[in-house]
Amino acid sequence: KTDENDDLYEAHELMAKFYRHLLLNTEEGNEALRYLHERGFTEEDIDRFQIGWALPQPEFALNILKKRGFSIERMELAGLLIKNDETGRYFDRFRGRVMFPLHDQKGRVAGFSGRDLHNGQPKYLNSPETPIFHKSSLLYHFNAARTAIKKQKQFILFEGFADVIAAVRAGFDQSVAVMGTALTEEHIRQLKRVSDQAIICYDGDNAGLNAAYKAANMLASHDISVKVTVLPEQLDPDEFIKQKGADAFSAYVKDSSLTFMAFQMDYLKRGKNMRDDEQKFQYIEEVLAEIAGLKKAVERDHYLRRLADEFSLSLQALQEQEKTLFLKKR
Ligand code: GTP
Ligand code: MN
Ligand code: MN
Ligand code: MN
Ligand code: MN
Repeated sequence: KTDENDDLYEAHELMAKFYRHLLLNTEEGNEALRYLHERGFTEEDIDRFQIGWALPQPEFALNILKKRGFSIERMELAGLLIKNDETGRYFDRFRGRVMFPLHDQKGRVAGFSGRDLHNGQPKYLNSPETPIFHKSSLLYHFNAARTAIKKQKQFILFEGFADVIAAVRAGFDQSVAVMGTALTEEHIRQLKRVSDQAIICYDGDNAGLNAAYKAANMLASHDISVKVTVLPEQLDPDEFIKQKGADAFSAYVKDSSLTFMAFQMDYLKRGKNMRDDEQKFQYIEEVLAEIAGLKKAVERDHYLRRLADEFSLSLQALQEQEKTLFLKKR
């Protein structure tokens, strides 16, 4: 069956092969290969994720695509080439970058993200929106992860695709990442077709925590059961694995992931001074409102007891207050 965008996919597949060849088999690819090795990417990672290198020259892709008979206008539409409006000449979008192919949900290369070797701006250059690449719906590694997600009955969601590569190396094949965007309804629709259990493993910094909180709420509102892994020392998953090893990461995800409610209880504390009664009561009220939203009585009871213990309050008082919120919610 042909698709009106077959040429766009073909061009991406072709360039992915060239970029890979440049990385692995040429002198020009050596610096990038060294960079990847220093970061902890293995030969197997490079193979599995089809990582490559785009030369700094501005007409490398242009010449290949021309020679292979692709329409230059279509290649601009694909985001592989850019037109200089003043001269009317075309040149390569991706120059001097480590190239990560972005596969769509059918496993076709639909775009690229290119990383600068020296943290130049932007750090990652992505394909623009094209007829085949939509960053608000593409989940990195989703097609390849599908079988593992079904088998593990769970997906792990990351902020960065470099984290996915490291997590797969550590044995978590059920890993996926958004493409530098917030989680969207479209992402959730795709994921929910495969599993209704999520682990969110975002970066351990402030931005990561805030994004994890939002993602967790969205997933939970779609009846997906959520756990959150909060990494220590503001590390991101890739850094954690590099510093502490795959086994430590694996153990951390398995043993230290928080339930959604436990995560919320920690998260809602942020920025509040618990020695100030007003702020403390505010916090307790916020947590009670969340507890009131839990469907299972056993779970409500569990977290009420936790709150009672933590603040030396009577369970009865908490239950009473929770009940008024519970009635309001239903
Ligand atoms: P490394 O520094 O290579 O380890 O990247 P990272 O995975 O830690 O990335 P980071 O936490 O900075 O950002 C997470 C995700 O946001 C990345 O995977 C990208 O998808 C996206 N992102 C980060 N920087 C940029 C950027 O400069 N431009 C764009 N378009 N996206 C970015
Ligand atoms: Mn919805
Ligand atoms: Mn970050
Ligand atoms: Mn990161
Ligand atoms: Mn990182």
